[in-house]
Amino acid sequence: NSTLEQTLLSAIRTIPDYPKPGILFRDITTLLGDARAFRRAVDELVHPYSGTGVAKIAGIEARGFILGGAMAHQLSSGFVPIRKKGKLPHTTVRVAYSLEYGVDEMEMHTDAVQPGEKVILVDDLIATGGTAEGAVKLLKQMGADIVAACFVIDLPDLGGRKKLEALGVNVRTLVS
Ligand code: PRP
Ligand code: HPA
Repeated sequence: NSTLEQTLLSAIRTIPDYPKPGILFRDITTLLGDARAFRRAVDELVHPYSGTGVAKIAGIEARGFILGGAMAHQLSSGFVPIRKKGKLPHTTVRVAYSLEYGVDEMEMHTDAVQPGEKVILVDDLIATGGTAEGAVKLLKQMGADIVAACFVIDLPDLGGRKKLEALGVNVRTLVS
């Protein structure tokens, strides 16, 4: 409903020219610091999946960790970190990806998800979808059943939602 959308939109701060000139950065630290907005965002992200047997929430570094930890607690699911390369200590699968303002590589532990487990992917924002597409590749490689990919913010002009939907992923976003 529009009250929720207003609550969330008014809690998100916009920083021009960060991290590069020309980028309008949507900063969720203000939303995370607002107790009511943070709870409402997490409640809204999880509500379709309550009682559906989601085994794991996979969160994308860094802001997907914060949202994903809260979602995992609420759904009584496990949490899986998808991290920038070189940060995870055990055996990993790795993928290169491009995003709105650069290229990088991300990894997941090979034993983090069992084949057939229901997994929800989460991040704060989807822009070009390059980051989420990389995470979907890692999860599919491990045989995960990806129930949905969830984001607080969609930047629809950058086409990320369509890119994920073309891969057969169900996408859930709270504000555009
Ligand atoms: C941001 C954001 C997403 C990604 C979205 O993270 O949190 O992960 O970019 O962009 P895309 O849809 O174009 O791929 P960033 O790479 O800035 O990393 P950080 O979380 O470490 O700041
Ligand atoms: N905020 C956070 N992450 C992002 C953004 C943004 O505006 N654009 C691309 N990744």
